[in-house]
Parts: sequence; structure tokens; C-alpha cells
Amino acid sequence: MKRTDGYGTGGGMGYNADGKPTADGGDARAKRAEELRRLIERHDRLYYIENRPEISDREYDELYAELKRLEEEDPSLIVPDSPTQRVGAKLSGKDAVRSEPHRSPMLSLDNTYSEGELREFDARVRRFLGLGSGEKIEYAVEMKIDGAAVSLWYERGLLVKGLTRGDGENGENITHNLRTIRDVPLRLRPEGGAAVPEFLEVRGEVYMPRAEFERLLCKQEEEGEAPFANPRNAAAGTLKQLDPKIVASRRLRMFVHTPGERSGARWRTHLEFLEGMASLGLRVNPHRRLCKDIGKVIETIAEWDDIRRSLDYDTDGCVVKVNDFQMQEALGFTAKAPRFAIAYKYKAEEARTRIIAIDVQVGKTGVLTPVARLEPVFLAGTTIENASLHNEDEIRRKDIRIGDIVYISKAGEIIPQVVRVEKGERTGAEREFRMPDRCPACGGRIERREGEVARRCVNQRCPGRYRARILYFASRHCMDIQGLGPALIDRLISEGLLRDPADLYSLKADAIESLEFEGEDKLKRRLGRKNADKLIAAIEESKSRGLARVLAALNIPHVGERKAELLAERFGGMDALRKASAEDLMKVESIGEVVARSVLDFFADPGEAALVDRLAAAGVCMRSSAKPAAPIADGSNPFAGKTFVLTGTLSGYTREQAEALIRERGGRCTGSVSSKTDFVLAGKEPGSKLDKAKKLGIRIVGEAEFEEMLGKRKGETTDS
Ligand code: IVH
Repeated sequence: MKRTDGYGTGGGMGYNADGKPTADGGDARAKRAEELRRLIERHDRLYYIENRPEISDREYDELYAELKRLEEEDPSLIVPDSPTQRVGAKLSGKDAVRSEPHRSPMLSLDNTYSEGELREFDARVRRFLGLGSGEKIEYAVEMKIDGAAVSLWYERGLLVKGLTRGDGENGENITHNLRTIRDVPLRLRPEGGAAVPEFLEVRGEVYMPRAEFERLLCKQEEEGEAPFANPRNAAAGTLKQLDPKIVASRRLRMFVHTPGERSGARWRTHLEFLEGMASLGLRVNPHRRLCKDIGKVIETIAEWDDIRRSLDYDTDGCVVKVNDFQMQEALGFTAKAPRFAIAYKYKAEEARTRIIAIDVQVGKTGVLTPVARLEPVFLAGTTIENASLHNEDEIRRKDIRIGDIVYISKAGEIIPQVVRVEKGERTGAEREFRMPDRCPACGGRIERREGEVARRCVNQRCPGRYRARILYFASRHCMDIQGLGPALIDRLISEGLLRDPADLYSLKADAIESLEFEGEDKLKRRLGRKNADKLIAAIEESKSRGLARVLAALNIPHVGERKAELLAERFGGMDALRKASAEDLMKVESIGEVVARSVLDFFADPGEAALVDRLAAAGVCMRSSAKPAAPIADGSNPFAGKTFVLTGTLSGYTREQAEALIRERGGRCTGSVSSKTDFVLAGKEPGSKLDKAKKLGIRIVGEAEFEEMLGKRKGETTDS
């Protein structure tokens, strides 16, 4: 995307030689600002809603920076729906979140748990409508997103209000927070010149993606805050924040699923309504399907039980709705719920096991975390042996004791946690857990800071902290050093071969091949020459990850993956970053005073500065131009970083659904076949794309193979 004129480059059109606006400058600038807003909205929509970006992040950032500059130079250009106005000021006590009435009650849904109950629902609907058993009712089936319900109000296309569900009659005004969610358009932009309704209320679900939840949980644990139990609580809790900056940093997402009050606009069916929402720029879930009868509904629900595990958000079931709006109206509501819709809830997956012991782990910042050691138990694809208990308060709240029989689930389908204790089965032999008075790694003093739930080891040089730092440094999202697990790290530390991350780069195969350590299977084994060589090669390879990964791996407080990327992109190299002032740092999007201070403090610390120097001296690439590694480089995800082209029709998926499945797994979808295409997914009656793919020798997969690829990811979750 090239700029179409010379604005923002200094001395361009609309300015005279002194840099003052010329007579027409104001108008031209206003025009350019409007044009930029449109462009940014368009690219937001392509990126967030439609999942098919057309420009690079850098090009997008340039458009954004230009608009920001224009608005800074002339604040009269700022309009409330400008993309620069998503994140507003923190609410203060006096204008704290207000409760306001909904236009119509936000009801709930009745739940069902079996095929039989679904058939009963169908029978009830027929009876109510006076339909015979021969007459068909069409249903729309959607994923039920496990998030927080919200209502959005648009007046003449402009977002004017956003409410939580509250008690259904009144919700809390959280407009300031909903504005920060990129899936929520600040202004509706109908496609193809369709009219914007005078008034439109839509309802939907705000959720926290699993990966984001995982990141937040780590951060909360590290910072000694009480962690959220699951992504739903995290989304709901985040929406109640007073500071929109915090909300923006947590990257919530939203799907619209229900019409509220609307003027003018009429849709014939629920699925048409969803299409209509998409064409206004609102985000709707690709997992929606028209089912000709209740039998098809039941089949769909069974089929989606597999798909839902691989989504990047939690779902707790499916929602089944009578598709026809006239029928919906005729069916109406009970006091609690619509008669035309029902939720089918999947069984929550839980496993029963016993807590053998509770150990205490030292984190990167010295926070002590109690971890339950469990009798191994299989749950949703992995064997679980550990579950973080987060902190003492959590243990007390759930009354967890050593020796207890407990139920385990996976928060966000990933993180094992203790759901509840089977107190009826206590024998009296269970023991209460006490946090140690001294750090289990170094024997040092422990403190509990004011307002924190966590205890910390205060020893800056605690070997437990170093261990956690090395583990983090080597982890998949940082330097991605394969084969370097916790047991091996412990051995290397106890042998005195490893103290901090930079020591990794001076390890020699000769010195480590004879090390013995306990493998995942609890058997003692020698590393051996072959594995030692492999490990050294993996460490060597990690040198080329590039600046963003190095910055993330260094564990600078407040600098996670995203901020590391932004810093790397802005400064290009470690030297430039180290020379940057607070002011320079704060010019980077989403970097404020706190983060800037943290970066400066980090480099001013002689220990940290020496670590960075040693990494550089070892040959670790400190430039941002290094090729980023594929999103998931462990080979088990056949979609990661791959480019797909779809042709023909699939029998089990719409094109949107197939594309969503590919994207959710880190793949990309493009429209035409080229030498850069990795796979062509061919359905029935494929077009010329298939011929081209054959000519270029590109791998062609059919629907069955595609499903196999999807299946490969099943259960491939990590146990921590
Ligand atoms: S339709 C009258 N569709 O589930 C309410 N709800 O348990 C009609 N939910 O309050 C809601 N995904 O917040 C509908 N695709 C979906 C949904 C969905 C999640 C939530 C919604 C509702 C709750 C009921």
C-alpha cells in the first residue's frame, strides 16, 4: 500500500515553505485524515474480521502514524470514531462504571445435555407452532462461545454504547473498554453501499483467546497477582477494568451472535442476519451451519466436538436456533429464555486423581508457586502429572490437602488445574500444606509484598530464578531450543556448567555427553553423543532467531512477545535500543512510561548488561532482520506457516470454515496458486487452480487428507 500523496513527509502539499499550512491546507489535511481513517478501518476489517490482510504490519503502522501526526498537529481533526481514539483515558472514581438499563432484557438460554433432550426441544417447537411431524423446521447451529455477553448500540452507524449483560435488566456501561477491541467497529461501514440502520443493537460474546489467557496467567503469577481461573473470568474481569489501556493490552476478541433492537433493517432468517452483520463490518463466527432438521443438528454437534478443541477460544457447547425469524417471533420467550433457541452443553472434561505432594517452584522474578504433583492421569489428549495451585490463598480457598482425591480440568483446554476436592473420600491421613519460610532453591529470605498474594524469594542471585530464566529463555516462544527440558537444565546447573542463559552458548558436546539425568518417563539415562550433538546444534540454531525473540527471552519486566516485536521493529538492533532514551522508547506504539522505565532499568543493571554482551559475543543475532521462526516449529502442526489455496467445494465445510480452521492453526490462505503455495486443498469440481498446482508440483490434499491434518493436532496440548 503506497501513500497517494506527499502528506506527512514534511513540506508536502498543503504546507508552504515555512511548514505552515497553506490556505487550502486545512481542508486537504481534513480530507487526508478522513482518507487515512477509512484506510485503517478497511485494513482493520481485513485483518481482524475477515482474516485476510492485504498490507504488512509496517505499512499499517505507517498509515496509523501518519494519522496520529495529523491529529496531533491539528486536534480539530480528531473525531470520536477515529482509530486513534480506541484507547481512552482511565475512568476515575467519580465516573466509574455505571449501571444502565437494557433496551430489552438480555435473557439466558435453556440448556440440554443429550440427544434426547434436543429431540424434545424440536417436538416442543413443533407443538407450539402447530406443525405436523412431516413439516420441516430448519435450525441454525453455532458454537457457544464461553465468554462474557455484551450489547453494542450503534446510532446512525456510530458506536455509542456498550453494556455488559449484568442482571439481564441492567448492565454496566463499559463503552470505554469495548472500544479497545479491534473486532468492534467504531463505525459501521456497510459493504456495497447498503444503508446503515438508524439504530442497531447487537449482542455477542467477548472472549479471551487461549494463548492470551496463558500469557496473562504467567504474568499474573510472576507479578504476584491472583490469577483468573479460566478465559471466561479473564474476559469478564478485564471488561470491568477502569483503565482501557489495560484492556487494550489484553487483546480481547468478540463475535456477534444475536440481534437486539433495530430500526429499519429486516432479515428473514438468523443466518441472513449474521451475513448482514458481517457485511456491516461486525465479526461473526465462521462455525455456523444451516441444518435441515434436528437429525442434522445432532450430527453437527457431534462433529464440532472435535473441531472445538483446536479453536483458539473456549466453547462450552453449541447453540441451536430456529432459523426463520417469523417462527422465532411466533415462539417468543418465557420469562427466562427464548423458546426458539437452546444450548447444547458438551460434557466438561475432568479427570480424577490424587495429589501426591505439593512442591514449591521459584519463578523468574522469585515468586514462589505451589505445584501439585499428581498421580499421572490422562485427560483430553495428554497425561497430566502437575497442576499449578497458583498461590496459598487459592489452596486455602479450595481447601486442597496433600493426599486429597481431586478433579482436574484444563483451563483454556491447556492449563491443568484442580477444580475441586472430593472431601467425602478423606481418610484423615491428608496433610495441610504450608508455604516454606525459606526459599526452597537457595534457602534465602522470603517476603510477601503489600497487596500481593504471592511470596517471593528476595535473593537476586537465587539459582531457582536462574533456572526459571533459562527454561523461559529456551522455550518455544523465545529462543526455541529443542531438547532442552527442565531435567537436563537441572543437571547442567548442578554440574556447574550452566548458571545463566549465556552459558548455554559455551556448552560443548564433549562435556555433556556423559551426563545422566531423569527423562520424562522417570528413567535415568545418559545424554549420549548423538543427543549431545543434537542439543549443541539446536543451541547453535537458536542464535539466528533475531532481536524480537532475544528481547522476549531476556525477560525484561513488562516486555512480552508483542512489545519485543514492536521494539525490535522500531530500533532494528540491540545497540540502537540500548542507546534509546525514555522519550525514544515511548514513541513506540503501546509503550508508555512504565515499560520505558523497565527497559532503561534493565540495561542499566550491570548484571543484565553483561548478560546481553555475552550473548552478543557468543554470536547471538541482535538484529531484527533475522528471519522469524515459524509460529509453531515443532513439526507436529502441519499448518504452521504454510500457505493454502482452496478450490472446489468440500462436503463437510464451507470455504469460510475451512479457511478459519487453517488460520486458527497458524496457516495462511491466499486466492491464487503460485510457487509460494504449500498446499492446494481441493474439493469437488475444482477449478483451474488445481491444474496450475499440478503444473507447479504443489502438494494437493483432498478433504480426507485435510481432516487427517486437522486430526493430527488433536490432543496435542502441553502438560506443564
Ligand atoms: S444466543 C437469549 N448464541 O450463552 C440469549 N448465545 O448460556 C440468546 N452465548 O447469554 C443467546 N455463544 O451470552 C447465543 N452463539 C451464541 C452464543 C451465545 C455464547 C452465550 C450468551 C448467552 C449465554 C447463554
